Amino acid sequence: MAIEKILVPVDYSVGSQAALAAAAMFAETFGASVDVVHVWDRPPYVPDTVMVTSPAGERRSLIELIRANAEQEMLEFLRVAKVPGNITLTHRLLSGEPASTLLGELERHQHDLVVVGTHGRAGLAHVLLGSVAEKLVRLSPVPVVTVRCPG
Ligand SMILES: Nc1ncnc2c1ncn2[C@@H]1O[C@H](COP(=O)(O)OP(=O)(O)OP(=O)(O)O)[C@@H](O)[C@H]1O
Ligand SMILES: [Mg+2]
Repeated sequence: MAIEKILVPVDYSVGSQAALAAAAMFAETFGASVDVVHVWDRPPYVPDTVMVTSPAGERRSLIELIRANAEQEMLEFLRVAKVPGNITLTHRLLSGEPASTLLGELERHQHDLVVVGTHGRAGLAHVLLGSVAEKLVRLSPVPVVTVRCPG
């Protein structure tokens, strides 16, 4: 089995930061590309017509502002991650229920491997795996590596 495409689902937690670091290592080893995907837990059902005005007086639609902030959060996460520049990395934001949306991504893009954190933002210490990680482990058609974050 060749590993050419790796999916890294991230929720911007330290756990997902550890997952991305491990995925970068696999990508170097196998010469694979990395797809970093964040799924918005709550889809932004905001009508296009809702406008906001910034303190500087600039008017724009609220939905556009939410999207720009989400993109900013992803870029900041990737900046901190410092993935080596020789690795082909793409990122995207999707909305929907996280686990099923990620399973849809696996089907659509035919990744060969998934790398996730064992815990995310909720970080429930008493469970072995968070619910998103557990669903992926159970239902993914391809191997899933879970990465425990230090501490
Ligand atoms: N919304 C999401 N989009 C993309 N990846 C996610 C998302 N939520 C979690 N993940 C991935 O799953 C890993 C584990 O997070 P998970 O949500 O399963 O655990 P948790 O937040 O500790 O507990 P729970 O959410 O079940 O209360 C994260 O490190 C990340 O890799
Ligand atoms: Mg979570």
